[in-house]
Amino acid sequence: MSAHSKLAKIEEIVSEQTSVPPASQPVPRVVLVTGGTGGIGTAICKRLARLGHIVATTYRNAEKARLWESEMNKEGFAFHLYQCDVADFEDSQRMVKSVVAELGPIQILVNNAGVTRDSSLRKMTHEQWKTVISSDLDSVFNVTRPAIDYMLESGFGRIINISSINGQKGQFGQSNYAAAKAGMHGFTKALALEVAKKGVTVNTISPGYIETEMVAAVAESIRAGIVAQIPVGRFGTPEDVAHAVAFLVADQSGFITGANLATNGGHFME
Ligand code: CAA
Repeated sequence: MSAHSKLAKIEEIVSEQTSVPPASQPVPRVVLVTGGTGGIGTAICKRLARLGHIVATTYRNAEKARLWESEMNKEGFAFHLYQCDVADFEDSQRMVKSVVAELGPIQILVNNAGVTRDSSLRKMTHEQWKTVISSDLDSVFNVTRPAIDYMLESGFGRIINISSINGQKGQFGQSNYAAAKAGMHGFTKALALEVAKKGVTVNTISPGYIETEMVAAVAESIRAGIVAQIPVGRFGTPEDVAHAVAFLVADQSGFITGANLATNGGHFME
C-alpha cells in the first residue's frame, strides 16, 4: 500500500469514528492556581479554564496583576484574582476562605508560585535562603493546609505541586531553590498517603528549563550551555507544563498519586 493510500485509509477510519460521541467534558470544578500571573501559571490558568473549570489565582503585585487581568480579558478569559502572599500562613488562610466563600469549595489546587534567588552558598545571604524556602516550600503548606478539608469533604481533590528539575538533580547556585523544590516532592508523597482513600491525589510536576522570565534572567552564556544539554533540543514552553497539569487533574487520573512527572525534554531522567 502506498503512503498516500495508507493516509487515505486512516482518514476513512477516523471519519467513521466521528459517529462515536465525544468524551464527556470534565465536571466543572473550582481551581486555585497560586502565582497564576507568571509564565507557567498563566498557561495553567488558561488550560484549566478551557477545560471548563472556574479558575482563581493569587498575585502579589497589584499593578502587574491589573495589566495581566486586562490582557486575559482581551483574550476572552475571566479569572478570579486574589491578592495574597503565599509565603505567609495567615494571609494564605484568609485567601483560601475568600475563594471558597465566593466561588465554592476548592477541588483542584496547583501550588505554582515560586521565586529564585540564585547564588553560590558561599555568597548566599540568610535573606536569600529564607525568601526561597518561604515562597517555594512554606507556601505549599500555607495554601494546602486550609484547602485540604474541602477536598476531603467532597470526596474529590487534585493537588499538583510545581517543583523543578533542579530539585531532582541540583544546580550550581541554587542550594536554596533545589532544597525547596526537593522538599515539595517529599511533601507530595507524604500527603498522598494521608488522603489516598478519600479521592484526593497529590502529585509533583518537575519542569525542566521553560521559556519564562525566570529562565530569561539566567546569563545568556549559561543558558546556551543548558539548552545544549536538553535532548529535545529546545527549552520547554509553559504550555508543555500546562498539558501535564491537565493530565493529572483529570477525573480519569485518580489512580496516579504520589508521582513526580518530569516535564523536561529528557534533560534529566531518574
Ligand atoms: N558548575 C561548576 N562551577 C561553576 C559553575 C557551574 N555551573 N558556574 C560557575 N562555576 C564556578 C566558576 O567557574 C568560578 O570558579 P573559580 O572561582 O574557580 O573561577 C566560581 O564557580 C564562581 O563562583 P561564584 O560564587 O563567584 O559564582 P557567580 O557569582 O559567578 O555565579 C550564579 C553564581 C549567579 C548562581 C551563576 O552560577 C548562575 O547564574 N548559575 C545558573 C543558575 C541557574 O541555572 N538557575 C536556574 C534559574 S531558572 C530556574 O530555576 C527554573 C527551573 O526550575 C529550572
